[in-house]
Amino acid sequence: MPKLELLLLFLLFSPSIFSVSDGRTVARRPANQGVSPPIRAVNLGGWLVTEGWILPSLFDGILNKDLLDGTQLQFKSVTQNMYLCAEQGGGTILVANRTSASGWETFKLWRIDENTFNLRVFDNHFVTVASDGATVVATVASPGAGEAFHLVRNDDQTRARIRAPNGRFLQARTRDLVTADYDGSSTNWGDDDPSVFVVTRVGGLQGEYQICNGYGKAKATQVLRQHWRTYIVENDFKFISTSGLNAVRIPVGWWIASDPNPPAPFVAGSLQTLDNAFKWAEKYNLGVIVDLHAAPGSQNPYEHSASKDGSQEWGATDANIAQTVKVIDFLTNRYKRSPSLLAVELLNEPLAPGASLPALMKYYKDGYDAVRKYTSTAYVIMSNRLSASNTELLDFAGGLPGAVVDVHYYNLFTSDFDGLTVQQNIDFVRNSRSAELATVTRQNGRPLTFVGEWVAEWKVQGASDQDYQRFAQAQIDVYGKATFGWAYWTFKNVNNHWSMEWMINNGIISLNNN
Ligand SMILES: *[C@@H]1O[C@H](CO)[C@@H](O)[C@H](O)[C@H]1NC(C)=O
Repeated sequence: MPKLELLLLFLLFSPSIFSVSDGRTVARRPANQGVSPPIRAVNLGGWLVTEGWILPSLFDGILNKDLLDGTQLQFKSVTQNMYLCAEQGGGTILVANRTSASGWETFKLWRIDENTFNLRVFDNHFVTVASDGATVVATVASPGAGEAFHLVRNDDQTRARIRAPNGRFLQARTRDLVTADYDGSSTNWGDDDPSVFVVTRVGGLQGEYQICNGYGKAKATQVLRQHWRTYIVENDFKFISTSGLNAVRIPVGWWIASDPNPPAPFVAGSLQTLDNAFKWAEKYNLGVIVDLHAAPGSQNPYEHSASKDGSQEWGATDANIAQTVKVIDFLTNRYKRSPSLLAVELLNEPLAPGASLPALMKYYKDGYDAVRKYTSTAYVIMSNRLSASNTELLDFAGGLPGAVVDVHYYNLFTSDFDGLTVQQNIDFVRNSRSAELATVTRQNGRPLTFVGEWVAEWKVQGASDQDYQRFAQAQIDVYGKATFGWAYWTFKNVNNHWSMEWMINNGIISLNNN
């Protein structure tokens, strides 16, 4: 971007010209304090909100770590050679008469301990034993002791028996009759045992809920505190500040606001860690974007919203929205005096239709007001809903001074990128993404725009370092036109290209000379 344009942008969007809607002129950010757009940031993903794929070893100490909350299992009766199924998706009996498995044949775990689980079916009911003491049904809305099933697996963990709370094993008596009345206490796991099922694991989550509940409170506290202390340290902030970056986006979870007594299974200590982050950011003159990545009830079904089992309940009630606003209120109040408080991001990646547009706009308005109670200079970032129109927030957010709309751009996750070559990926960024960003970015700068997540990774196999360099540079060029700025996902990652630290250290991304 030519220098003159940059200067104009800077003047236009400098926080010093914010004015609130009632016409009152708001305080200027003190001179030489704080960071202003254009923002070049990196996300500190996998630090205060766990995502297993970023650092899988965090889960290594969990017993039966393949059976965490939200793990999806399918069970095929060896005697019937048919899948176990919640007839009608739930609300009635279990049967064993399906030749193939999909939604109704999938059971989600709620973990009680490493061997004991509630089994949640497609329509969200839980499996239990009917009052006749034998018939297995999926009719319970919220599980208790009567819904605690014990999974007993064979040595290679490909087969399992399911022991009901009555002490007896489930058996497929016939294809249409599944009962909890099999007495055989031992088995040779053979195909003649009606209580034996072949187990297939078809999905699972490795988020904050899973790691905390998987370890249990005492061990989770120990493991996570160690992680928080060592994963990102002061030296990382120094590195970031000398690498041509001027801010960090820090994902946090809603439980941080009730530190030191967060609701189970979450554990205390992430707030102290965020305090440290601010201290280091101040020392190295970096801005901090506090990003509410996991909201109560989960705003999307992914592990990064700390979903328990893939269900998504955020925004369903006014009370839930008010609870989320309180988290924003708490965080803004806590850091309002820090010159490093660059922005508060109200919610990461809400997903329709769970997060309805009216619920989201109500929350964004209330969340915006909560931030403005304490600061007139911090930006307020509003994430676009995933898979929704990328312009749906513009009119709304455009009316709120200092509001920023966040879009996330990955050449991944959809089939659009299947089979694209290196050059096609780069062209996509330079043409399609560039046009998309232009439709979100209004010339008057209201709202500002932020590419809050992107990465130089793609579906191309075996690309060279030079290919990656060109891909990263294309994105830096295009996302540099976002009026607030951009943030790479993420700073550290066992997958090298997802680690900005690795990309900088290996010369694939260099910002100081461009
Ligand atoms: C499975 O069994 C139930 C109960 O008898 C029956 O209603 C249903 O039609 C059966 N489904 C199949 C695919 O056989």
